[in-house]
Amino acid sequence: MVLSSDQVAAFERDGFVVVPEAVHPARCTELAARADEIVAAFDPSVVSIFSTDEQTRTSDDHFLASGDQVTCFFEEGAFDADGHLTVPKERAINKLGHAMHDLDPTFAAFSRQPALASVADDLGLGHHVLLQSMYIFKQPHIGGEVSCHQDATFLYTEPISVVGFWVAIEDATVDNGCLWVQPGGHRGPLRTRFHRAESGGTAFDVLDPSPLPEPGSDALVPVEATAGTLVVLHGLLPHWSDVNRSPQSRHAYTVHVIDPVAAYPADNWLHRSPALPLRSFHAA
Ligand code: FE2
Repeated sequence: MVLSSDQVAAFERDGFVVVPEAVHPARCTELAARADEIVAAFDPSVVSIFSTDEQTRTSDDHFLASGDQVTCFFEEGAFDADGHLTVPKERAINKLGHAMHDLDPTFAAFSRQPALASVADDLGLGHHVLLQSMYIFKQPHIGGEVSCHQDATFLYTEPISVVGFWVAIEDATVDNGCLWVQPGGHRGPLRTRFHRAESGGTAFDVLDPSPLPEPGSDALVPVEATAGTLVVLHGLLPHWSDVNRSPQSRHAYTVHVIDPVAAYPADNWLHRSPALPLRSFHAA
């Protein structure tokens, strides 16, 4: 057991658990360096946006194709009207997604390191499979807000099974846009479901009209985390992160896992090639 019985109980009671020093800082530094290499090698012209009307379709297509790729997503407003980046791409990058955990050897090794697999085992998630990975940059001064949401909105199974493994690659504080969570909020219903629309693009369905907590409400508490801290988040737990207004970046890496026995609807946004089957933390 990596987790204490109190930590396992906290996950069940609160919908999240914080595991300080779960990952060695050297592994965080190594992952950050690999992320920088991927950004340096990425040609931003492949996602350039050439007109306002094209913008939604282009970003939808780029997003919807990313489930079994390693690709870059930029901050809103990073491109001018002619499709050129307005700042250097290493400063404009929002995140990498969504299959580094299977396609990139450095990310694959990080994602399946024994520490994460052991925590998964302790939480009864040892048989879950890794569906999605994201490397989030949260740039100094411009890193955008992630509005309050439940991960099961985006990674939906029947029954709901998604769990997020979030690792601070750099220190996360209230000042640079750390996570905020609603303790116990995972016992509430799933509010919305995001899916591929029949007409193309994507849509949200409202499943339950009760509101999620507003940023700034007392229901949400900050989760400050030093580099190497793991936070495990139940898929129904409401959480958000603020704009990064500080001069410090706030890199984080997330892997989301699902129960392979749960039904995975065909209109989920994230599609994987059959050539790239989902694998657990324990896969070689
Ligand atoms: Fe999330």
